[in-house]
Amino acid sequence: MTVSKTVVKKLIGSSAVFRQKSKVPGALIMTNTVETTKTFRRTAKSTKPIDKARVASLIESEWKKFTSQTKASGIEFERAVKTLPLGVVSSFQHWDPYPISIESAKGAWMKDVDGRDLLDLSMGFGAMLAGHLNPVVVAEAKSALETGMLFVTPSPISTDAAERLCRRFGLDQVRFTNSGTEATMYAVRTAKAYTGKDAIVKVEGGYHGSYDPFTVSAKPALSEAGPAENPTPVIPLGSTPGPIFVVPFNDLPALERRFASDAEKIACFIVEPVLENLAIVLPDEGYLEGVRELCDKYKIVLIFDEVKTGLTAGHRGAAHRLGVTPDMVCLAKSIGGGIPVAAFGGKKAIMDAVTDNRMAHFGTFNGNPLAMAGVRAIDMICTDETLGEAERLNLAALNEIADIIDQYELPAHVVGFGIKGCITWSIDPVRNYRDYKATDFEVAELSWLWSLNRGIITPPGLDEQWLVSLAHTKREMDILVEDFREFAAALRG
Ligand SMILES: Cc1ncc(COP(=O)(O)O)c(C=O)c1O
Repeated sequence: MTVSKTVVKKLIGSSAVFRQKSKVPGALIMTNTVETTKTFRRTAKSTKPIDKARVASLIESEWKKFTSQTKASGIEFERAVKTLPLGVVSSFQHWDPYPISIESAKGAWMKDVDGRDLLDLSMGFGAMLAGHLNPVVVAEAKSALETGMLFVTPSPISTDAAERLCRRFGLDQVRFTNSGTEATMYAVRTAKAYTGKDAIVKVEGGYHGSYDPFTVSAKPALSEAGPAENPTPVIPLGSTPGPIFVVPFNDLPALERRFASDAEKIACFIVEPVLENLAIVLPDEGYLEGVRELCDKYKIVLIFDEVKTGLTAGHRGAAHRLGVTPDMVCLAKSIGGGIPVAAFGGKKAIMDAVTDNRMAHFGTFNGNPLAMAGVRAIDMICTDETLGEAERLNLAALNEIADIIDQYELPAHVVGFGIKGCITWSIDPVRNYRDYKATDFEVAELSWLWSLNRGIITPPGLDEQWLVSLAHTKREMDILVEDFREFAAALRG
């Protein structure tokens, strides 16, 4: 994942207005607007280039503004960096010269150590879907703490949480872990044990956590990445991934070529149904259905990594929303109300590999009562109605931002999925990692920094997107939209 001054922005979707034919080969996607009940993308009607010198000068002045108004964060960083590499607990949290340090958070807002109120649109990369300190999550967590913190033996509490997840996501069986990384790692191991095969296929630019195979081609340098239609697996120093193949997203012929040549070795294909670590990259019409058919044809386990999509995609997740059923699903972030919890699960025949210990799954803190309280609370809170309201807010903001892009003829477009959204700084839709690498990282950085200096936190890195939590209202979304309007005006000078 990119960690630098670069950044991004956000959004969602819903019904179809097709204006001009897409240049995207094999896609039914049209521009200028593609809204379905499933996804949203709106490209600009007409665009003009942005003055690069103006962008460079704005970046310079905005970084000066940043350091002048975040002095306490700077002091906090000097302290943190002595005991924490980069001064952070996860490298993704760092940017130069230092990140904002937060003191507290409630609802959709955070307070930093400089005493500034910041509108949070990052929301824990989606983990804070219910809002900071959501009262139901807090009540369930308190009740769990009064009941017992860790049993390391079965409890109705964990069975209840498993039943809730299975019901909601259409799984036969599920196992809990403590992070998304563990969930994807165990899902892949389960697929290997079930099939008796050893190789993994993943998408170029796809991120699934820190297990060795997933570090391969997560954000590879193009100089090492080989041809777009047959990417070279790029293995970082220190990683021992085992047999792994890398394919481009949204390219069924490339996937079939790989399956046809190596099906005897390939256990599984792991993929985010919507890529949410390259901003938001939507699957072309028919892509996921094609993936499902190919996995069936070649007897390869299809794993949807829904660590980021999950409940942010809708009340039953992305697979249900997009109408394609994988063999296994990985869940994390949004399912726990901000409490660390994750899960992997799927069809019983596959999970039998856990039952009969072909795949050993252990973990002291798996399914601990606090985590289960988070799952219980979120299951009570996240209904079609509550998530639908957040999605409506998101959709309105997406359209307003797209109107501003049109007004200022910016070379950008908006993409949304569920309660997430982003502004992508390219004229044409991004369909894969190579398209993403061709987007304008400088303007994206400036856009993020501009918002940050005006009290709006979006995640750093072009990879991310905004999240409209259940605590956000029209007031918060108006702040985002008006901030972007001012930014667009500043860009044009
Ligand atoms: C798609 C995806 N899978 C897996 C992970 C790993 O999750 P965690 O950070 O909880 O280990 C992430 C983290 O961002 C992710 O985005």
